[in-house]
Amino acid sequence: MHILVIGGAGYIGSHVVKALLKRNMKVTVFDNLSTGTKLNLFPQAKFIEGDILNYEQILAALKQNVDGIVLLAGKKAVGESMLNPMKYAFNNINGVINVLNAMVEANVNKAIFSSSAAVYGMPQYLPLDENHPVNPINFYGFTKLETERFLKWYDQLKGIKFVSLRYFNAVGYDEEGDVKGLEENPQNLLPIVMEAAIGKRDKLKIFGNDYPTRDGTCIRDYIHVTDLGSAHALALEYLDKGGESQILNLGTSVGSSVLEMVNKTQEVIGKKIAYEFAPRRPGDPAELTAKADKAKEVLGWEATHSSLENIISSTWNMYKNL
Ligand code: UFG
Repeated sequence: MHILVIGGAGYIGSHVVKALLKRNMKVTVFDNLSTGTKLNLFPQAKFIEGDILNYEQILAALKQNVDGIVLLAGKKAVGESMLNPMKYAFNNINGVINVLNAMVEANVNKAIFSSSAAVYGMPQYLPLDENHPVNPINFYGFTKLETERFLKWYDQLKGIKFVSLRYFNAVGYDEEGDVKGLEENPQNLLPIVMEAAIGKRDKLKIFGNDYPTRDGTCIRDYIHVTDLGSAHALALEYLDKGGESQILNLGTSVGSSVLEMVNKTQEVIGKKIAYEFAPRRPGDPAELTAKADKAKEVLGWEATHSSLENIISSTWNMYKNL
């Protein structure tokens, strides 16, 4: 199979590319390098610099005998999406529509789409399964949900088969060191913990210690990007065998609190992390964990790289020599 990985130079995309290459797929990366970097490219994969907002560019890439796509390109900072919804509407909605229309024109009918736990909004029960009501509480989650709806219509009307993967908290780095690019201006917990560990920032601010959780800090389901990568490869193989469209959670079902992440990091890297408690961050649910049984049933997928030790040590490998 020849797969166009759109956004393949990014943090998750580069790990997806590695997983597809491992399964002997032919890969072309399409990326505008706005947040992705050439450091994340693999020599075995062809690279096209292009933008999904440019219809002719994405169409030309799809016309190169592509069998399927993985669509990761998009904006993903929750906070920013609330301040600048226009940017998110433009990139995450218009961009996806361009890709879908170009797929129809180029006769490509298999798509793996990166969605998010953010589509669920405030949990009504835990762990979240795929039938939990979807009611995003931020604009980013709204764009992901709308895209899933577009995919359903393009499946029904144009026969594009898709697997939409709802990632929980993506963390970690390739353990073999093949992904070289560090995310710039990270907004997420673990990279910020790492920056506190190396002295790039004074201290970590823990947003809220009065949540109704075991230690008062928020609980999340942290999933290693190598596990995300293998799910994409399995999802492509599933569609290639004629599988029906699916929406699948990708998580571990294990929740870790912010304080547990900090304590475990201190233990794994042998350094103190300076932190202080700060007010709650608006829009943070107390707890998010995934029921990921459906991904196992449909794809035979399981998380095997997502122990906290592995998540932390693979991330530390990227930071320790900065
Ligand atoms: N946190 C802090 N201090 C920080 C950063 C984060 O205490 O400096 C806390 C947050 O309050 C939250 C937890 O650490 O409780 C994790 O926060 P992240 O920002 O790393 O991740 P989120 O859970 O907010 O969101 C992530 C992705 C979203 C995705 C979501 C799905 O960034 O794109 O997971 O679960 F939608």
